[in-house]
Amino acid sequence: MTLNSIGLDTKKTKELADELNKLLANFQLYCQNLRGIHWNIKGRAFFDLHVKFEELYTDANLKVDEIAERILTLGATPLHTFEDYTKAAKVPVGKNVSKDEKAVKLIVDSLTELLKIERKILEASEEANDEGTNAMMSDFITEQEKTVWMMKAWLGETV
Ligand SMILES: [Fe+2]
Repeated sequence: MTLNSIGLDTKKTKELADELNKLLANFQLYCQNLRGIHWNIKGRAFFDLHVKFEELYTDANLKVDEIAERILTLGATPLHTFEDYTKAAKVPVGKNVSKDEKAVKLIVDSLTELLKIERKILEASEEANDEGTNAMMSDFITEQEKTVWMMKAWLGETV
């Protein structure tokens, strides 16, 4: 086993960076979904949701940067082209979504996919002894689970 300069297994770190790149790509698609519904939302809930979606994409943008910088910290290159993002897509693409329920469901469906990728990274980072990535995933998962609960509550559903 060879260790890199931050003391992590080189091979496992490379694999983790690849998974983080998948997360980065899907986070970008999530951000773009949020932008779309922030712009296109219509109806009586407009004022609430327009602001809420902006709050969510502002937060998601910060997380995109954190993920990219973690990838760099692990010695890899973050994906940065739309072409690469669409190739890695797991998050559903929301086009012309203007109805409030459909918009909130798009958030839930996007987060469900992000959570799957994050749990995979959580497990792999634990196995690789990568505390930095592990703690980041742990925080993301906790926050996003809470957002799913809130969105589901808005929909009148349970998680
Ligand atoms: Fe705006």
